[in-house]
Amino acid sequence: MRPETAFHLYVHWPYCRSKCAYCDFASVVPRRGWDAAAFVAAYRADIAALRGLTGARPLGSIFFGGGTPSLAEPGIVGAVVEAAMQAWEPAADLEVTLEANPGTVDRKALIALRDAGVNRLSVGAQSFDPAALAALGRTHSVDETKHALTWAHDVFDRLSMDLIAARPGQDASAWAAELAESLDFAGEHVSVYQLTVEDGTPLAAAVAAGRARMPDEETAAEIFELTRRVLAESGRPAYEISNFARPGGECRHNLAVWRGADYGGVGPAAHGRLTLEEGFLATRHQPDATDWLAGPPAPERTPLPAVERAREHLMMSLRLTEGVSFARFAELFAAHGLPDAAELLDAEALAEAAGLGLIGQDEQGIRVGEAGTLLLNALTARVLR
Ligand SMILES: C[S@@+](CC[C@H](N)C(=O)[O-])C[C@H]1O[C@@H](n2cnc3c(N)ncnc32)[C@H](O)[C@@H]1O
Ligand code: SF4
Repeated sequence: MRPETAFHLYVHWPYCRSKCAYCDFASVVPRRGWDAAAFVAAYRADIAALRGLTGARPLGSIFFGGGTPSLAEPGIVGAVVEAAMQAWEPAADLEVTLEANPGTVDRKALIALRDAGVNRLSVGAQSFDPAALAALGRTHSVDETKHALTWAHDVFDRLSMDLIAARPGQDASAWAAELAESLDFAGEHVSVYQLTVEDGTPLAAAVAAGRARMPDEETAAEIFELTRRVLAESGRPAYEISNFARPGGECRHNLAVWRGADYGGVGPAAHGRLTLEEGFLATRHQPDATDWLAGPPAPERTPLPAVERAREHLMMSLRLTEGVSFARFAELFAAHGLPDAAELLDAEALAEAAGLGLIGQDEQGIRVGEAGTLLLNALTARVLR
């Protein structure tokens, strides 16, 4: 079996200043500060262990996600970048992204992050409406967001911004105005997520108690379609269901992962997908930062049957505008006994969706067309066997 060679690294930072009302990501508010030297040592040990698994590979990207990685000292970020560049063979155009929350960075901090090796910043703006920011439990102001994005433009060539749409009380016309204002500050890349009510969050409790009302389906659909249209008109068409970019401005890390490339995860709660001689492997670290810091890092390793990894790949590819490539599928899975994506697809359901103009199919692959994007989850469930 030929292992997938290209490799991408996800680095999880587990802390936030406060917990947002909607968020169930693996992050906590630390009771005290943290020991930067202990983090560096644990990340280094994690990287060394991962290198032992992957062997030498070209490294295409590093993504610092969280949590709020902009809280980490630039020294920690620099040490991780350096360790990763020593462990693998960095591509000439190595992409190093870091997620930053407004209010946690100033111009000087951004320069220090750039000097530490970060070359792409993703700013969590979420909303340009002060009342919405407060309702979401964000601790920064709209002004702080605007400052962060303005500094980020000065310091980084590559800039992304996260927004959350379809929030309680929002209608399409308010969103149109907010989105237009946000684009005055945007760079090459924008992510817009429709707000999801996650179990166990304060938002879920507020919705259950009637204190917050999510937009109805029709309004949410209007907001979704408006987002796609406005971003396309701004020169940033959707390349994934929630991600929009100028041509060439796509997040190379996420795009590689969505196209089925191998990625390793370091840090608490980080997970990975590796293709090894013996087959596919899923790795997951324990979520608790204190346990992870105590080390030695030993991610849970679960062999992944090829058919499961292939289904996962099809599901992710259907979220991409380019869709599923049969050639890419064969490249990833033929050596594992699955040369043909069609074996995992329901031909009848596909033909039906194609007849309705929701899915396009030809000898190269299949893709969800513009008319199908609103129904993506239902379509994916129908066409995957
Ligand atoms: C790991 S978070 C991190 C970034 C950073 N900590 C921040 O909050 O700005 C990644 C993104 O997921 C989105 N997100 C998190 N929870 C969500 C939810 N319940 N519904 C929709 N989007 C969500 C937010 O837009 C957020 O920026
Ligand atoms: S949305 Fe970001 S800042 Fe808010 S709790 Fe989640 S990870 Fe932390």
